[in-house]
Amino acid sequence: MSFTAPIQLPGLTRDPLWYKRAVFYEVMVRCFVDSNGDGTGDLGGLASRLDYLQWLGVDCLWLPPFYMSPLRDGGYDISDFKRVLPEFGTIDEFRDLVRRAHERNMRIIMDFPLNHTSVDHEWFQQSRSDPEGPYGDFYVWSDTDEKYPNVRIIFVDTEDSNWAFDPVRRQFYFHRFFSHQPDLNFESPAVRDAIVDIVKFWLDMGVDGLRLDAIPYLYESEEGNGEGEPKTHDFIKELRETVDREYPGRILLAEANQWPREVAAFFGSEEEPECHMAFDFPVMPRIFYSLRSQTATELVRILSETTDIPGAGAWGVFLRNHDELTLEMVDEEYRQAMYGWYAYDPRMRSNIGIRRRLAPLLDNSRAELELAHALLFSLPGSPFLYYGDEIGMGDNIWLNDRDSSRTPMQWTPDRNAGFSTADPGKLYLPVVQSLVYHYSLVNVESQLAQSRSLLHWIRNVIHTRKAHPVFGLGDLKVLPTDHDSALAFVRSYAGTGTSTGLGDPPEQVLCVFSFSQNPIAFTITAPELAGAQLTDLFGGARFPTIDEQGRVTITLGTQTFFWLKVVLPQEPATTTTAIPVLPPAPVPVR
Ligand code: NOJ
Ligand code: CA
Repeated sequence: MSFTAPIQLPGLTRDPLWYKRAVFYEVMVRCFVDSNGDGTGDLGGLASRLDYLQWLGVDCLWLPPFYMSPLRDGGYDISDFKRVLPEFGTIDEFRDLVRRAHERNMRIIMDFPLNHTSVDHEWFQQSRSDPEGPYGDFYVWSDTDEKYPNVRIIFVDTEDSNWAFDPVRRQFYFHRFFSHQPDLNFESPAVRDAIVDIVKFWLDMGVDGLRLDAIPYLYESEEGNGEGEPKTHDFIKELRETVDREYPGRILLAEANQWPREVAAFFGSEEEPECHMAFDFPVMPRIFYSLRSQTATELVRILSETTDIPGAGAWGVFLRNHDELTLEMVDEEYRQAMYGWYAYDPRMRSNIGIRRRLAPLLDNSRAELELAHALLFSLPGSPFLYYGDEIGMGDNIWLNDRDSSRTPMQWTPDRNAGFSTADPGKLYLPVVQSLVYHYSLVNVESQLAQSRSLLHWIRNVIHTRKAHPVFGLGDLKVLPTDHDSALAFVRSYAGTGTSTGLGDPPEQVLCVFSFSQNPIAFTITAPELAGAQLTDLFGGARFPTIDEQGRVTITLGTQTFFWLKVVLPQEPATTTTAIPVLPPAPVPVR
């Protein structure tokens, strides 16, 4: 399949806050396109589909690890940080991918699992066999398995301790994740230097940022729980200083599966910044909770909590990713409810979470898929899509662990879903062939051919979001409503440069959502918006004006939403809101 050539290749914009307005797309290299017919996706394949991603409106790719690895944890078990796994391609192909992405004003951030390595890494091999040698203290060794008693186990399905005995060194080593992933010892200056050296290696290659995998866990201590220890924050501050000084415009993104205040700590402060971005783990499960409980209360609660972050910081919002839908950040009662709704088959569960893709989680309900994406694209922060979710791909719970939702991208109804020309038995994982999500039904080609497909719908929402900087740059205020199923918030942005006519104008958008499985009418109270005109951001239709008391009644159909442009009485009147004019859909050519 090929796509119409982009009209122009302008290169990268210089905006240092680019990540605040960007739409991100997570794609595992292994899963997207196999360019050489060996059954595994590769860098060349990914590069061949940049036109598709650009057409969709993606600004930045997030690539999970493609380093040298025995692939016992999807590549998060690295055996050489400076080499590309040969089945994925070469360093030159990666450099080429970055160049081709940049030509399209598309950026690339890559995963950097710095907390641990694979046991296969040369550092570990040296460390276990030569305790006095240069790598002797590269890992966390102990004569007992009783140190750090407050540290929890993360992979509860597979591990019963954070310590493993090494028969060669005859000592225990510490591991936060699988026992084949020993933790690096950040107390060692040589480890810290080696990590900074790797950061520079990839940033020198033009990469636009790094996702700092498992970032809370760098240091352990006897007193603490090994999550966000002060020394961990000190290390990130130093790393940030280096990045800002030597690679301005590149970003650090924290993967910290923690409560809001703890995650917020990874942004640092205005004076001592740490990461530019951090994933918003607490908000995600509450979206799923709201959909099934038909109440917005949990979302209202979490969105009303103020977690101050530096002005240049941005949350990363997501619905799904390559891991299980983690339920660590919800209380037990809610967790049990979510297992009941979303993981009724025990095979759907994994650790403390649910290993399913978005469309099957939502039972392929178009209304719920649209509602979930409307939240994703209007909550504060930058949205992260997971490859395949834009076409509502299914999963395969009969595969092991999180491979259930890492199956090949479905491009066409042809052999191997157009992912590969290999013998189907040779694919790294089988393509989805279930009744509802079979690749002959769910694929990019057929959705391109249907103007009302999920793919076209998502693309339209992405472009609408991008036409309104308020979503990336504005504040959020939750507004009270008189209905439990309704969520209302207003996004407000003061704009920039309006005196010169350049830059963004100020803007306010009222976002309303209903989680009810029946139509509802509800009243919003917002005295600060009294007298404001409301117009639909997509079609430009006029809605009832907010009255003098700041009240307006809205009617929403089953599980639907509106994004309404707010024009206050003192602002210059606007007739309709501009709808972004999209170029016609590219015609797939085989
Ligand atoms: C977090 C990654 O997202 C996950 O896939 C991986 O298993 C762990 N870190 C360990 O590296
Ligand atoms: Ca290949």
